[in-house]
Formats: sequence, structure tokens, C-alpha cells
Amino acid sequence: MTDAIRRHFASDNYAGICPEAWEALARANAGHAPGYGEDAWTARAADLIRQVFETDCDVYFVFNGTSANSLALASLGQSYHSVLCHEVAHVETDECGAPEFFSNGMKVLTLAGAGGKVTPAAVEHAVRRRTDVHYPKPRAVSLTQATELGTVYAPDELKAIWATARSLGLRIHMDGARFANAVAELGVAPREITWQAGVDVLCFGGTKNGMAVGEAVVFFDRTLSAEFDYRCKQAGQLASKMRFLAAPWVGMLEGGAWLRNARHANAMAALLEKELRAIPGVKVLQPRQANSVFAELPKPVVRGLQDGGWRFYDFIAWGGSRLMCAWDTREEDVRAFAADLRALLVPTESSVVRP
Ligand SMILES: Cc1ncc(COP(=O)(O)O)c(C=O)c1O
Repeated sequence: MTDAIRRHFASDNYAGICPEAWEALARANAGHAPGYGEDAWTARAADLIRQVFETDCDVYFVFNGTSANSLALASLGQSYHSVLCHEVAHVETDECGAPEFFSNGMKVLTLAGAGGKVTPAAVEHAVRRRTDVHYPKPRAVSLTQATELGTVYAPDELKAIWATARSLGLRIHMDGARFANAVAELGVAPREITWQAGVDVLCFGGTKNGMAVGEAVVFFDRTLSAEFDYRCKQAGQLASKMRFLAAPWVGMLEGGAWLRNARHANAMAALLEKELRAIPGVKVLQPRQANSVFAELPKPVVRGLQDGGWRFYDFIAWGGSRLMCAWDTREEDVRAFAADLRALLVPTESSVVRP
């Protein structure tokens, strides 16, 4: 397979723009429109997001996930507060301290938990272990849905965290860079895993779902969005030609491409998991739930695959190789990868040297 047509497994952000987003961008390109979000595309996109969540939420469009998470978290507390998140959460490991920076110092405190998930017990322990003035006062829990380890929180798990959070006076932020994959996997209405499960603010991912760029910050508790437009502007996240951030949302939400894309990526990951489980010597590290599979592969095999041109990460979270599928991953990509892996692991008859 040549590199020009090969779909890699490194990240869903290796994929291009899906047709629905592309076509909406082309339509938005006609003529002139007011800047800074005063245009019809932005209004329509926000309305569609309100329809998706079946509630009257406040919506802001920003360029990327780091800014969405950081600015959303900053709006939940003061500089002396802290945010609790899983130890492999993107806000902790991959945002270069942006949540602390944009909140003027709100500290991110990490929690352990199986499968990349925060538990009510861990939240409670982190809050109760210190209540004095020397400890950064916990104010929020940040949950990633789907998680960095490709697992998803079921509605009941979210509600249990909410009950604990509520009893401890904590707000809930959700990093939904792969929110669509979680909805597709769980088969629930988006409201069931957001505001009906206590989520105050969601960073709804567009980029990994098939857009060129863009995330939506969705405030279910609208009191928290006060002056959020100023935060966006100050952080360089108020797009001058906002219609080009908003139009892809219209294209993807109107016809349901957001869920189709997520379902497809999840299905490709399920196929990949099945293929990998059938190869002796490959250990799948945990059951796949969204669009990624984590597997332990011998180091020389990782090198062999990479030398053969495959791109994937082997430094994410607790190790193993992360194999991520996207909206445009094809069955033939999955089967080609599995075949190359099998060839490296399982000696063929002809390659076996007989005494
Ligand atoms: C869990 C998670 N959150 C957020 C992001 C978004 O980050 P970025 O700032 O690269 O858009 C990513 C991207 O890898 C992610 O995996």
C-alpha cells in the first residue's frame, strides 16, 4: 500500500475532512458574512447543537481541544481552586499546562483508576484528604468521554460521579474530543451522558470526528458562561471568520454525519480488535469500546511495522501501542495492517529455517 492512499492508525487527526464538512465549508464560502460569530452559520450551528442535546445550552466555537478544555475549566473556578482528573487525562498529560495557564493557576490534581476512568471513591478521597487552606481547593472534576484509553463512561457511572461531585460541591467538565464515538458506542441520547448526568460544560470535539478544525464549548449550566466570550477573545480563540469554524458543524449535524462517522470509526476499531486477537503474540490490553485499540506488541515488531510505513503511537498512557481508527479508515487498511503484523510475528513456512 502506498503512503498516498494508506490510512494510518496514529490518530483520528491524521484523517482529512469528511465530505459533509467540506461541502458546508464550500457553501459558507459564497459571498460575504459578518465576522466574529455574528453570521447565520454560527447561529445555525449553535441551534443544531441545542437540538442535539435537547436543551437550551450556551455554545462557543473554538479552534482546538486544548483551548476548549482550558477555557472551559478556567470558567469553573478561581486560581486557588483545583480540578480533579484521571492521571492519563489529556488536560494533565497533553496540554502543556494550558488549563493552569488560562485559569491563572488552578491546579490539576490527578487520580488513579482502571481503564482511564475516574471513580467516585477517588474523587471523594482527593477532596477529603485535605480541607485546610494550604491545599488547592477542589472545585471541579474533569472526565474524558471517550477516555484516553478508548473506554467509555456509561450513564450510571457518570451519575455515580455526579452524586459524589454534588455532595462535595464540585462542578463537572467533560473533555469530549471523542464524544461522538462515546454516543455511538453507548447508543444513548447525548443528553443522557451530559446534562442529565450532571455535566456542566462539555468540550464537544469536531476535529477528530471529521472536520478540519474546531471544537464547541457547550455550557449546560448557563450561569458558568458569563463573559466566556472575553476568555475566548483574550486567548486568541475568537475566530474572525467564524463562519468557517461553524459551517462544518452545520454540515455534520444536519444529516447525522457526526454519528455515522463515529459509528464507522468504532466499527473499524472493532474489526481491528478482532483481527489482533486472532494473531498469536499480540496482547490486546483492554476491550475496545470506542475507536481505538491498545495492544502490546514486541518492540522489534513495532519497529518492523514502522519501517514498513505504518504510523501509530506507542507512548500514550500506560504504554502499549495505540491504534486509532478514523471516519475514513477502511476495512482494507485494517486487514493490511493485521496482515503485516501477522507476517512479522508468525513465521511463514518458507521463512522457517529447518535443521
Ligand atoms: C482526549 C483529548 N482531548 C483533547 C484533545 C484535543 O487536543 P488539541 O488541542 O490537539 O485539539 C485530544 C487530541 O488529541 C484528545 O485526545
